[in-house]
Amino acid sequence: MEYLDFAIELASAAGDVLKHYMDREKQVELKGRANLVTIADKESEALVIRRIVERYPTHAVLAEESGASGSGEGREGRWIIDPLDGTTNFAHQYPFFCVSIAFEQEGNVLCGAVYDPCRDEMFSAARGLGSFMNEQRLHVSDVEKLGGALVLTGFPYGVRQKMEAAMSQFEGFLFESQAVRRGGSAALDLSYAALGRCDGFWEMDLHPWDTAAGLVILEEAGGRVTDFAGKPFSIYGKQIVASNGKIHDEMVAVLGKCGY
Ligand code: IPD
Ligand code: CA
Ligand code: CA
Repeated sequence: MEYLDFAIELASAAGDVLKHYMDREKQVELKGRANLVTIADKESEALVIRRIVERYPTHAVLAEESGASGSGEGREGRWIIDPLDGTTNFAHQYPFFCVSIAFEQEGNVLCGAVYDPCRDEMFSAARGLGSFMNEQRLHVSDVEKLGGALVLTGFPYGVRQKMEAAMSQFEGFLFESQAVRRGGSAALDLSYAALGRCDGFWEMDLHPWDTAAGLVILEEAGGRVTDFAGKPFSIYGKQIVASNGKIHDEMVAVLGKCGY
């Protein structure tokens, strides 16, 4: 698929930018109290947008650092870009971050690529064509019960204003699952669920660039993605529960009990 091939090409090129800055001065700035941006976020995003505009001048763009740009309302399609997902990790030399690129048309995310330059792992998927990590076809895990599941989460930058809900959910999953991890890159969290490296993921207050590519990658690997109530997920919504499908209802039940 043309758009998928291009998303992979973009994610790979942007990943090279992140790799370049990994061992260099990163020029870290604060966007909020704990919300960082670095030279790598900016250069990665600039490169991706430049290439999209060259190749598809009539497409729209939604990117984390520069917002909406490009042509029209996105009727012909919209590229959704997180140039560096896991900036805090990156700034601290903690090797868990990625580039996330997705393509949306008429409200549907058609394909996406998530690239981890530290491990050279390219996760990719297009609707109906399956999900891959490099050449390997992906399938979610077959863990049946939350009690035997490894679940992942993340905390929004505004967590200090939502401490009660965040801690209540965290406690609920610590209690009900086998273990909980907080990696620091939502796009990789979703991709890891697609690969079966974990069984579920939940988080509040994410943005379209965090989830768009990971959504297709997980769904094409057989996973399920909803909001906290088990209702259809939107990349423009504020809640995500993602799983191998089998533990999904149990995850939704935990969130219902803990509140949000
Ligand atoms: C963040 C990461 C993190 C999640 C935050 C996101 P960024 O994205 O995905 O895992 O917990 O909510 O904002 O800022 O590193 O691109
Ligand atoms: Ca992000
Ligand atoms: Ca980012």
